[in-house]
Amino acid sequence: MNYVQVIEGTTQFLIPWQDDAAHFPPGSAPVFFNRRMELNRDATILLLKELLPAEYLDLMAATGVRALRVANECEIPVIANDRDFEAIRFLKANAQRLGLPVRVVNRDANALLSTEKFEVVDLDPFGSPAPFIDSAVRSARKYLFVTATDTAPLCGAHLKAGMRRYAAVPMNTQYHPEVGLRMLIGHVAREMMKYDRGFEPLLSFSFEHFHRTHLAVVPGVRAADRTLASLGFIHQCPHCSFRSVEAGLVPSGRTCPGCSVALLPIGPLWIGDIADRELCLRLLERIPGVEFGSKARLSRLLRILAAELPVLPHYDYHKEAKRLGVSPPAMDILLERLVQKGYGASRAHYSGTAVLTDAPPEVLEEVLSL
Ligand SMILES: C[S@@+](CC[C@H](N)C(=O)[O-])C[C@H]1O[C@@H](n2cnc3c(N)ncnc32)[C@H](O)[C@@H]1O
Ligand SMILES: [Zn+2]
Repeated sequence: MNYVQVIEGTTQFLIPWQDDAAHFPPGSAPVFFNRRMELNRDATILLLKELLPAEYLDLMAATGVRALRVANECEIPVIANDRDFEAIRFLKANAQRLGLPVRVVNRDANALLSTEKFEVVDLDPFGSPAPFIDSAVRSARKYLFVTATDTAPLCGAHLKAGMRRYAAVPMNTQYHPEVGLRMLIGHVAREMMKYDRGFEPLLSFSFEHFHRTHLAVVPGVRAADRTLASLGFIHQCPHCSFRSVEAGLVPSGRTCPGCSVALLPIGPLWIGDIADRELCLRLLERIPGVEFGSKARLSRLLRILAAELPVLPHYDYHKEAKRLGVSPPAMDILLERLVQKGYGASRAHYSGTAVLTDAPPEVLEEVLSL
């Protein structure tokens, strides 16, 4: 096999080389490295520099880029696991070349999590993390990080797969990335709270083709009850953009005030905060001191997350404008108009046309039609 040396962050490592650059879809190559996940890894490195945990488990480490970067750039003791023996060979070779003290483990993820506890568990699988969440929440002492790339099941585009994996009902809406992220966090919440533990979301986001959440585990029944209180439903009108949010695990029957039709419940979902805004600001302060390939994109993401209004779900205001047959104003003008009417309004990180506001739909329609 040929090798190529790549650098991500300030860490150099070897990966297997193929003609189609450094990206091997599942099954096409024994060892995996996906350059498109750089921002995902950069965000985790930045957060770990702030949290400085005593140890970090990369549960599905593949070539080891994430694990090696954590060991090298955060100077945290790292455990890197993968069930693929070929991946383990690369991991070991890379760790040795860099002189990094990485403990390399070659086990099935669920078996490892069922026999050992780790301060940080980072779950970064191909596709859905659902088969690993139960054992991950049992093993994670302080922090649990999860990536999901099965965006179609999570957002309702593949409805039945979403229902089977996450035991909740998604819906393909104009705010589908938000449904996906809140489906994922909601599922982790239900798996976590059955063990009388809860969590606080530190940093969660949807970006391109994946969802990512970083959660701080909080032990105890009271924390579990707080987590339970952040589960609920979005009720969506099938005809217009009216929506309402309800806490709890049993959705009530609700009707659209404009269309007089039954609203459709989406969930149960996480309806609480997705990120700690103060923490996002602290992470932003760290950005000038790091060498990240995704520096500009990550700064923008953190700035938006820090300023997101705590309401849900967002509107895609271009889709709203299209529905109304009007041409959309610039984002800043729209936000300004909503604020002038006395409502809160902010961008949302889900897309360049995502708006969060506590204004009712008729006010949004009014300011879009000016
Ligand atoms: C998406 S890759 C991980 C990428 C890596 N975390 C990174 O940031 O570069 C998924 C890896 O999970 C491993 N994997 C899949 N199922 C597993 C299981 N049940 N136990 C352990 N490893 C598993 C695969 O061998 C593959 O290397
Ligand atoms: Zn309606």
